[in-house]
Amino acid sequence: MSIWRLKPVSAFEADMKKSDLNRVLTKWGLTSLGIGAIIGGGIFTLTGIAAHDYAGPALALSFVIAGIGCLFASLCYAEFASVLPVEGSAYAYAYGTVGEIFAWFIGWNLILEYMMGATTVAVAWSGYFVKLLHLFGIDFPLWLCNDLATATEKAAKLGEEAPSFAFNLPAFLITWVVTWILVKGIKEAAKTNNIIVIIKIAVVLFVIIVGAFYIKTENWQPFIPEAKSVMIDGVEKISFGYGGVLTAATIVFFAYIGFDAVSTQAGEAINPKKDVPFAIVASLVICTVLYILVSLVLTGMVKYDMLDKSAPVASAFSENGISWAVFIITLAATAGLTSVMLVMMLGQTRIFLGMAKDGLLPGFFKTLHPKFKTPHKSTFLVGGIISLVAAFTPIDKVSEMCSMGTLLAFAMVCIAVMILRYKKPELERPYRTPAVYLVGTLGVLFNLFLMYFVRIDTWKAFIVWGTLGIIVYFVYGKRKSNLNNLPE
Ligand code: ALA
Repeated sequence: MSIWRLKPVSAFEADMKKSDLNRVLTKWGLTSLGIGAIIGGGIFTLTGIAAHDYAGPALALSFVIAGIGCLFASLCYAEFASVLPVEGSAYAYAYGTVGEIFAWFIGWNLILEYMMGATTVAVAWSGYFVKLLHLFGIDFPLWLCNDLATATEKAAKLGEEAPSFAFNLPAFLITWVVTWILVKGIKEAAKTNNIIVIIKIAVVLFVIIVGAFYIKTENWQPFIPEAKSVMIDGVEKISFGYGGVLTAATIVFFAYIGFDAVSTQAGEAINPKKDVPFAIVASLVICTVLYILVSLVLTGMVKYDMLDKSAPVASAFSENGISWAVFIITLAATAGLTSVMLVMMLGQTRIFLGMAKDGLLPGFFKTLHPKFKTPHKSTFLVGGIISLVAAFTPIDKVSEMCSMGTLLAFAMVCIAVMILRYKKPELERPYRTPAVYLVGTLGVLFNLFLMYFVRIDTWKAFIVWGTLGIIVYFVYGKRKSNLNNLPE
């Protein structure tokens, strides 16, 4: 009954054999899925907060910093995906190599990544949707499309009376739409996703190319505004300066999340051992380049302190009088964000499914709908939680929780890949992380370093979450694990 017991490779193989998924995804198909999961609320929305409050024009630098951290993690993910091309992603890798409690803890953190990620994107979606309706002359009252803190802040800016109650209705409703699509099955959704990815990349390129003509280089001066201390939610924070650039890096780190979602598609890949590692790294590198360019264009088009925090990309174009572009960007962002929610919520239910199949979570999470063959109960539960949190919480709070969980999960993957190299050097590895001990160590340090810059209240919530995870493991997971039934 050791907490460090491993799931045997034969058990993974048996799981994969039982899976009757179609192997249809090619190298570029997988890469496109990765890009589909990566480009979303981070670039379309959080860039506003990151530049306006923390980094100024040095937002591009924040993207470089966060991108480097992700690159280390992605190289480690890639090796794992080549050794164990299974669906459970980091959770499964750790289960096969380091031990049950480590795997459980990664799974627990992945809940933050996927569930809080989808919540963030739901709030971002609401921002763009409201903007889209505004273009048609329909305006939501502030209290019906924001959480209370955000509605109060916006009311103060507009000189309106602050509401006493607020509910982000669009965020709530979109979550239920996505939940319903996932319950009915994702075949159709996957097809739509490919189209959305193309639209999304086209719009990002459009922003870069058209926006470049409207850059005023004086907006980049000073590139790193002078550091100042501000009170945010009663906590003293450093805005701007190098500290601000690093805080902004933890915020825009969110924009990179999703490359790891490629690894959950291993079961559908034609040649998973080679193509999944390729797609993980390729999708990340492509998005890094796009992000750096977008952030330079954005902060060049509009002075950072004038950037809109809910829909910064679209607003940068309207501020420059390019109204015709606003409609295109807003529409594409609205569609693009939906696809990220889809992948995130799908990832969450799959990880729950994997954990329930291993006995670490109750059977509720693996019950399939008799007709649609999807884990409908778990999907409804996930949708219910996301819709409520999204309706009442400011975007930066949920995105930071997501980033915290992901940063820790990434650090743990970097540790796990080094342990696997050390313990099982003989394993066949179609992809090997270059200089694994160096890259792995840098990955761990980089991800932990970024965690240090996350706000203190996020840390508190995170510690509560982690403690709860350990308790659930000892009370439930450890006692119910399928490994209890294996002969020692
Ligand atoms: N990277 C994804 C996004 O920015 C999660 O929405």
